[in-house]
Amino acid sequence: VTSKVALIVNGKQRELNVDTRTTLLDALRENLHLTGTKKGCDQGQCGACTVIVDGRRINSCLTLAVMHNGAEVTTIEGLGTPDKLHPMQAAFVKHDGYQCGYCTPGQICSAVSVLDEIRKGIPSHVTGDLTTAPLLTEAEIRERMSGNICRCGAYSNIVDAIVEVSG
Ligand code: FES
Repeated sequence: VTSKVALIVNGKQRELNVDTRTTLLDALRENLHLTGTKKGCDQGQCGACTVIVDGRRINSCLTLAVMHNGAEVTTIEGLGTPDKLHPMQAAFVKHDGYQCGYCTPGQICSAVSVLDEIRKGIPSHVTGDLTTAPLLTEAEIRERMSGNICRCGAYSNIVDAIVEVSG
C-alpha cells in the first residue's frame, strides 16, 4: 500500500509517494536522495540516522515516514553549507570530532538538539536531570549524547566540540 506524505525538509516543501512501511530514514535517503543521514544498525541502537523532527531529535530508522505528514524535518544537509558551516559543524572540524565520519551527521544533529533541549529546559531522558546552566558539564553532554555511538571512539573530541558551542 502506498500513501502520499507531505514533509517540509530543510525548509522545502516535499511531496512523497511511499510504501506505508517505509521508514523516515529510507524516505530521506531513497526517495529524497538526502544521503547525509546514515543507516548504521537500522534498529535504534547507534544514532547514525538522527534527524530533527519538529524541533526534537529522533532516530529516523525507528519511525515511518507516513507518521510525519506535515512535519518539519531537518537533516545534516539543512544545517549548513560547505561555504557556511553551522557553528556545530565548524566546531566538529576544529576539534577533529570524527574519524571515519559515518556517525558524524547523526552526532551533529543530536548535538544541535542537545543545546536546544537545554535552552527549553527539557530533562535528560535517562537521569531526569534538568540542567539549565548555560554551560553544560562534560558529564551532562556525554549522558545526553549517549545514544550516538562512534565506533572509532572519537568521543573526547566530540565532547570538546559541543563544549565549545555550548559556551
Ligand atoms: Fe537508526 Fe542505528 S540506524 S539508530
